[in-house]
Amino acid sequence: MIIAANRGLVACEWRYLELQLVTQIFVSVERATVHDEQIIDVDFVEQEKQDHPVDRKEQSNPNPLSLPRGTPSDKGRARIVTVTNQKGGVGKTTTVINIAAQLGLRGHRVLVIDADAQGNCATGLGVDKRLVKATTRDLILAPERAVESRHQTAVEGVHMIVGDRSLVGLDNELLRQLGRERRLIEAIEPLLPYYDLILIDTPPSLGIVTINALVASHGLIVPVQTEYFALEGLAMLAGTIREVRNLFSANLGVDGILLTMHNSRIHLNVQVANELREAYGNLIVDPPIRRNVRLAEAPAHGVPIHLHDPESHGGRDYLSVVLELEKRWGIDSR
Ligand SMILES: Nc1ncnc2c1ncn2[C@@H]1O[C@H](COP(=O)(O)OP(=O)(O)OP(=O)(O)O)[C@@H](O)[C@H]1O
Ligand SMILES: [Mg+2]
Repeated sequence: MIIAANRGLVACEWRYLELQLVTQIFVSVERATVHDEQIIDVDFVEQEKQDHPVDRKEQSNPNPLSLPRGTPSDKGRARIVTVTNQKGGVGKTTTVINIAAQLGLRGHRVLVIDADAQGNCATGLGVDKRLVKATTRDLILAPERAVESRHQTAVEGVHMIVGDRSLVGLDNELLRQLGRERRLIEAIEPLLPYYDLILIDTPPSLGIVTINALVASHGLIVPVQTEYFALEGLAMLAGTIREVRNLFSANLGVDGILLTMHNSRIHLNVQVANELREAYGNLIVDPPIRRNVRLAEAPAHGVPIHLHDPESHGGRDYLSVVLELEKRWGIDSR
């Protein structure tokens, strides 16, 4: 129902835009007829409407919600996965922390890059921000500092590059720089042989740092809260992926949609989960992550859930999700 409503909404928006366009053309033609009949040739406008390449493109991609899949990464080099959703508070950072930690506990070599100025990954992975000398900002501005930007976390085998408030304002600083969307991929390129996975946490906005993360990625994990407007975020993401694919990287796609903060006793949560399954099939990663206070309190102890309370619902759900992702990524536990 919600999907139908969303689709209806998108269709309505298109019709509205179309209507506006047609009205504008009529008004222009009328004005032109009054002032100078030669200004607008109606036949030409009609012809232009038929020939316009954007119109053709929109017709060939009628579903604004459709998401392409992630692409394989090279053997012996890290897969780069960005955890993203432009909606705030959906569990992106919690997902990065706990997936990275569980992968580390299972023997994988993982690098977390925090691209969010809120810098919450460091707290959740037990990195003392006061001791940090180089951050994600340094990585982007001075790629030669990539090696020294890494820090050990509370989990062996999991390293991280810390994000902090210095990321605020980076958009403006990069504004005049050529190739600014590829800074991150160029900076981490030399690190790829040393990791199995590089996980990037992003802010709930589409600034230049988020674009850098998307351009660098083989795949995306999209945490979605099973609440109303879930599809709104996914529609926004679908548009962003299309733009990034067109402009920068032909292969960006989704590795998995993760249902978060789920409560199977709440009808709305179940209904939205069903709608998402219907729309995205096996792009959904099972099981959904249940709402669990242990996940929320773990960062206060500076450890991920698997060191805080592995038997909690949150601990067990994230473990199951990691097992599923290992299969999708074709990486076995070491
Ligand atoms: N499964 C869960 N159960 C209970 N609380 C959760 C769960 N997942 C996340 N939280 C809590 O919800 C809040 C938002 O989570 P989180 O910070 O991971 O979201 P986010 O998408 O990274 O937010 P932002 O968009 O601000 O970066 C946090 O307080 C977190 O501890
Ligand atoms: Mg976050």
